Amino acid sequence: MNSRIALAAGLALAALTTEIATAETVWLDQLDVRTASQGWGEPQKNKSVGGNALSIGGKTFEHGFGTHAESILHINLGGGAQSFAASVGVDDEVGGNRAASVEFIVVGDGRELWKSGVLHAGDAAKDCAVNLSGVKLLTLKVGDADDGNSYDHADWGDAKFETDGAKTFVASGEEMPEPVAPYILTPPAPATPRINGADVFGVRPGSPFLFTIPATGERPMKFSAKNLPDGLKLDAKTGRITGALKKQGEFVVTLRAKNILGKAEKSFRIVCGDQIALTPPMGWNSWNCFAHAVSADRVKRAADALVKSGLVNHGWTYINIDDFWENHRDSNDPTLHGDFRDAKGFVVPNSRFPDMKGLADYVHGLGLKIGLYSSPGPWTCGGCTGSFQHEAQDAQTYAQWGFDYLKYDWCSYGSIADGKQATDSSIPSWSEGKGKSDIEVAIYPYRLMGKFLHEQKRDIVFSLCQYGMSDVWNWGGSVNGQSWRTTGDITDTWRSMSDIGFKQDKAAPLAKPGNWNDPDMLIVGEVGWGKTHPTRLTTDEQYTHISLWCLLSAPLLIGCDMEKFDDFTLSLLSNDEVLAIDQDALGKEAMCAINHDTVRIYKKDLADGGHAIGFFNLGAQPVDLSFNEFAPLGLAGRQHVRDLWRQKNLADVDTLAGSLPLTIPAHGVLLYKFKAAK
Ligand code: GLA
Repeated sequence: MNSRIALAAGLALAALTTEIATAETVWLDQLDVRTASQGWGEPQKNKSVGGNALSIGGKTFEHGFGTHAESILHINLGGGAQSFAASVGVDDEVGGNRAASVEFIVVGDGRELWKSGVLHAGDAAKDCAVNLSGVKLLTLKVGDADDGNSYDHADWGDAKFETDGAKTFVASGEEMPEPVAPYILTPPAPATPRINGADVFGVRPGSPFLFTIPATGERPMKFSAKNLPDGLKLDAKTGRITGALKKQGEFVVTLRAKNILGKAEKSFRIVCGDQIALTPPMGWNSWNCFAHAVSADRVKRAADALVKSGLVNHGWTYINIDDFWENHRDSNDPTLHGDFRDAKGFVVPNSRFPDMKGLADYVHGLGLKIGLYSSPGPWTCGGCTGSFQHEAQDAQTYAQWGFDYLKYDWCSYGSIADGKQATDSSIPSWSEGKGKSDIEVAIYPYRLMGKFLHEQKRDIVFSLCQYGMSDVWNWGGSVNGQSWRTTGDITDTWRSMSDIGFKQDKAAPLAKPGNWNDPDMLIVGEVGWGKTHPTRLTTDEQYTHISLWCLLSAPLLIGCDMEKFDDFTLSLLSNDEVLAIDQDALGKEAMCAINHDTVRIYKKDLADGGHAIGFFNLGAQPVDLSFNEFAPLGLAGRQHVRDLWRQKNLADVDTLAGSLPLTIPAHGVLLYKFKAAK
């Protein structure tokens, strides 16, 4: 190269400037591609998103940009580039996984210049050549081809510009909002008693009953209940209701709590029948913080933290162990070495979990419930042992240990579905296989485990995890599932959270009590899959995340290290009026009712005839609205309006003649409840 290239840090954070002295080639990797926003992992220069040499369809590339759908990188060319060229495709590191499907798009000054069409794993690299004369702002995008972003590892191989002389190129991500320091909206809970949480609880006849009355207020507190059905008893000190109900039926109970400052009561419906999880499960899961490094000790400490933080008083209940409680097929970590199963075929936990029953007893002893994880395939996604051909034994084992929740993750089952032998050491831990195209294949392993779980004399919530394949929302309930993931894995970026959260409408009509769409776990607090950091979501993005998940009636599973809670994160997770939207007994899921520019307005119908409305702003600048489009939200007449985060009434609005002034923060939300005035 005979020209001079000087790299200088620009004023904009993390933006690098490339000065080009004479006509020549500028490689994309000479710019700061780290500024790209993407749906998983970190943007990589001259490497794939997984950190390997760039490789597409067997061909390797020395230069390029490794990213993950959905991905956006802007490059300010200032009109100085003549052309852009690259060879694009899915990186070979995903191992031929058919779930990987992406589309590369090149946009110049807002106009689409080139599109790759859908590319899959293993496809040869597709050449892109675009004339850029006059283009000022170039945008390189990778979309998920509308099927979720699982395994969408995308490479811009040998990406380069031809320039016409001394010019300045600056790479940047999406326009992002100005940083805003955390601000707490949730008012502190009063010292007088208040009973929070769901109004309804489902249990099967004969199953052990455990419900801890979630109540805030000064301790000591004394609990009582009126009309508690035979078979159940309440511990007046702890507020725990235990026992079992023999027969099906509905029981309307009055729960009461009293402390030195006052008393509270609430009507609570116990429904003894076949349906459980009548409101979305709320709790914690180990994956988004500890991932492969989970242990019994960490799980106990998480359970302690849920209680100590006071979250238990807001209805948070489940402590769920994700992958890595089993032994691993080939890990270097000696704590994961050991027999997969005993001589009779019963699963053997790894050495970090020496006493699963003891662990379950410990968690129950705190008034909480406990969950675990497996796969219908021979291996879990992390490469630990799965339940394949031991489904009945595993369901029995979970019940004997006293577990209350199973997350069942497709993982290596794709290869089994494609006819591979479980003993074949080359089967990957994850492959979609025929599960995507053949609905019977997709359903089979879930129906099997669903049946065995249902046969246990214990209510075990069955959480399907297969990323939405074969439109799981249409059949998840029929295999005894209580919830099902609708997407690939979430990560703590705006791109990931908003792409997942705002694309749930298709599944929404299928949600109902006992059947929940699961857009994946929460990413507030200290998260990080084995090495934690504060979430990368901004303050307002976190309000958006929690508000949206509550509107979506999503299972709420905290994904952070709960020993590292800060006040802001706790305030996000302990707003009872916001959580009540998620836990509403009607079980409707919100859908987008209005979509204008950057504004999305979601509506969720509530059991008391009211409506929860989320006014979201997907843009990087605040939006001011004088809002009066009440009809599409189903709002008529005079309406009471309440700001749920602030727990404050606003002025009533006349939906015929009036309007509502709204200022929605950038990437933020206003979450209101409307109720017709009498
Ligand atoms: C998949 C799931 C995650 C987590 C991991 C464990 O990626 O989607 O939520 O359970 O497997 O390996």
